[in-house]
Amino acid sequence: MSGTKIDGLAVAQAVKERVKKAASEIKSQGVNPCLATVLVGDSQASATYVKNKQKACAEVGITTKDHHLQDSISQKELNSLVDSLNNDKTVHGILVQLPLPDQINEFEVVSRILPTKDVDGLTPHNAGLLAMGKAVLKACTPSGIMELFDYYKIDLAGKNIVMINRSNLIGKPLYHMLLEKNATVTTCHSKTKNLADFTKSADVIITAVGDRTKFTLKQDMIKNGAIVIDVAITRHNGKLAGDCDYDDIIKKASFATPVPGGVGPITVAMLLKNTVTAASLSKGLGS
Ligand SMILES: NC(=O)c1ccc[n+]([C@@H]2O[C@H](COP(=O)([O-])OP(=O)(O)OC[C@H]3O[C@@H](n4cnc5c(N)ncnc54)[C@H](OP(=O)(O)O)[C@@H]3O)[C@@H](O)[C@H]2O)c1
Repeated sequence: MSGTKIDGLAVAQAVKERVKKAASEIKSQGVNPCLATVLVGDSQASATYVKNKQKACAEVGITTKDHHLQDSISQKELNSLVDSLNNDKTVHGILVQLPLPDQINEFEVVSRILPTKDVDGLTPHNAGLLAMGKAVLKACTPSGIMELFDYYKIDLAGKNIVMINRSNLIGKPLYHMLLEKNATVTTCHSKTKNLADFTKSADVIITAVGDRTKFTLKQDMIKNGAIVIDVAITRHNGKLAGDCDYDDIIKKASFATPVPGGVGPITVAMLLKNTVTAASLSKGLGS
């Protein structure tokens, strides 16, 4: 038996088409959706992520304003850029690409972004609203994962879900989204003992470790018919990879995401969706 591939590219395309339509509608009402991107330093990976996001924006009719800053930038300078973007009425979304250099306090920068322009959904305000089931702008990777479940009509109610990640970016926001869908959620991490005991009984496993020297999700760690969402982006044997080998896991899983082509593309699509939502809200047009 072989399970069904969760095709993140196809789901992302469907979301992008909806966003493109929404962007064109708000343009006809005089709002030109615009995302400001902030890239600090010369990390090749971060530069590629930002470039891909800008390209995706162009595809759906979102304008981007590019800010590329020196690695040596001070906290004060970066804070003041965020302040000026907060005050710029032509900018609807602010994306600060993480990680930031060591001299910068990331939390301080992210917290400074206006919640209504927080298209990454990572400010304390929006994270708090999410925990209370009231968020409008939600973290992109977790909301993208929820979009994958929706697209494949996977009902989460009553499902036993094991997540391997507890970061502010993935595990914590996703926990609240899964609870909203009435799943029973267990959050595992590097200090979890006997991890395989958890994964073997899970209906759904969402894994986001990102270091194959520390962790690999193998076939013998999942039950027959489990659903596996691999969020990680790492390198293994010289290739882009997640926490598991898709070809191996899909032989036992009912559904699984490949890496690349799974969670990555849908994450970018959710950023576009949030940007158009932020642009709509800025003029009281609704989302
Ligand atoms: N597909 C996408 O669009 C997308 C978006 C964002 C991130 N990612 C990828 O997702 C991965 C995680 O990102 P992140 O920012 O959340 O990273 P992170 O903050 O480093 O989180 C990694 C998580 O894995 C846990 N962990 C580490 N070693 C473990 C082990 N041996 N057993 C079980 N759990 C272990 C950590 O536990 P502790 O909390 O105890 O340290 C932590 O909760 C990365 O590969 C990243 O590139 C993908």
